[in-house]
Amino acid sequence: MIESTTKSEELMRLEAQHGAHNYHPLPVVLAKGLGAKVWDVEGKEYFDFLSAYSAVNQGHCHPKILKALTDQASRLTLTSRAFHNDVLGKYEQFITTLFGYDKVLPMNTGVEGGETANKLARKWGYEHKGIPENQAKIIFAKGNFWGRTLAAISSSDDPVSYKGFGPYMPGYELIPYNDLQALKQKLQDPTVAAFMVEPIQGEAGVVVPDEGYLAGVRGLCTQYNVLFIADEVQTGIARTGKMLACDYEDARPDILILGKAISGGVLPVSAILADDEVMLTIKPGEHGSTYGGNPLACKVAQSALEIVVDENLAKKSQVLGDLFRKELTDFMGAHEMVQTVRGKGLLNALVINDTAESTTAWDICLALKENGLLAKPTHGNIIRFAPPLVITEGELSHCLEIIKQTITNFNFG
Ligand SMILES: Cc1ncc(COP(=O)(O)O)c(C=O)c1O
Repeated sequence: MIESTTKSEELMRLEAQHGAHNYHPLPVVLAKGLGAKVWDVEGKEYFDFLSAYSAVNQGHCHPKILKALTDQASRLTLTSRAFHNDVLGKYEQFITTLFGYDKVLPMNTGVEGGETANKLARKWGYEHKGIPENQAKIIFAKGNFWGRTLAAISSSDDPVSYKGFGPYMPGYELIPYNDLQALKQKLQDPTVAAFMVEPIQGEAGVVVPDEGYLAGVRGLCTQYNVLFIADEVQTGIARTGKMLACDYEDARPDILILGKAISGGVLPVSAILADDEVMLTIKPGEHGSTYGGNPLACKVAQSALEIVVDENLAKKSQVLGDLFRKELTDFMGAHEMVQTVRGKGLLNALVINDTAESTTAWDICLALKENGLLAKPTHGNIIRFAPPLVITEGELSHCLEIIKQTITNFNFG
C-alpha cells in the first residue's frame, strides 16, 4: 500500500532526517510571504504574528528592499574589509546620523553584535576606566537572551541555554531585571566595565520593566562610570512604538546593538553604534568579520531603515499596539484562563493562567495556526504576538477576532 503524505509532511520529514534537531518548529511549511501574510506549501494563508522574531518589521518581501537587494546584487556583493567599497561609507554616514552616534561597527547577526559590544566594553574598561588587565566585569540581568555563542550562554540563567556547554566565559555577573537597587550595588565595584540589558526582555516573555527603569540605568551608569549597553536587537527598529525602546525614557545607551529588522528580514545584518571614546578603542586587526559591512548588506539595511522612517512605522506600531492590548485586556476580563496581556507597541505577549497545562500555550498556537494565524510560545505559558508593523488596522482587527475566537473555543481541560 502506498502511504499518502502531504507536501508539508514530506518537507518536514526531510528536515527531521537531515537537519540537526536544534529547533522545535510549529508544523507549518512556508513557501511565500508578502506584507503581514505568509502562505504554506499547500497554499493556505496565515497572518505572521512572529515576524521571524521581530526581524520582518517592514513586512515580508518589501518591494523597496528587494529592489535594493537585486540592484546591488548584480553590481557588487562582497569585497571583504581588506578593500574599501563604494557603499559602506555612505551607509555608515546614514546610520550614524539616524541614530545619533559618532561611529558604527557593522556585523551580521545579533549575537555578533553582543559579542562586539562586550569586546568594546572590556577594551574601554582597560584603556579608559583603568581596570587592571583581565579583570573587567560585565553585568547582565537575569532572564536575558542575546543568542547562542559561548559568551551569550555564559551570561544566561536559563539551563536550557547553558547546561552541557561549559566551561563558561568568566567576568560575567547577573542581577535581577528591573532592579535599580541591585544595579547600584554592583556598579560600586570598580572593575565593572558595563551593564548590558534589553529594554524589554523579548525571549523571556516580553517582560516590560517599570517606567523609569531605563532612565535609572542611564543615570547609575553615568554616576559610576560604567557603560550602558542596550541590546535593542529585538526591541529596536520601531518594534515597540519608538525607533528604539530606550527612546521612551530618553535613555541614550553608550553602546547600542541593533540586528534583526535592520535588514527587514532579508539578510543577516547587525550594527553596533557608539561614540569615538568607546569605538576607537578597537584598532585595525583586533575585530572584524568577512561579511560585516558588505555592500549588499549595507544597501539592504539602508533601504530597510528608510522604510521605517518613510512609512512612519514607529507611530503605527504605537497606535496599533495600544489597540491590540486594549482589546485583549477587555477580553481577558471575560476569560479566566488569560492571566495578563503586556507589551509595548507591537511587541506583546499573552500570559496563560499558570494553572493551565505546560503544553497549553503550544496547543493554543496549534489552534491559532489552524485558524490562520502563526505565533509561538516563548516560555511555557507565554505566547508572543509580534506581527509585521505594516499590518493594517483592518487586518489587525481581523487577527484579534481569530485570537479571541481561538481562545474562547479552546478546551483548557
Ligand atoms: C535581544 C536579542 N539579542 C540578540 C539576539 C541574537 O540575535 P541573532 O539570533 O541574530 O544572533 C536575539 C535573538 O533572538 C535577541 O532577541
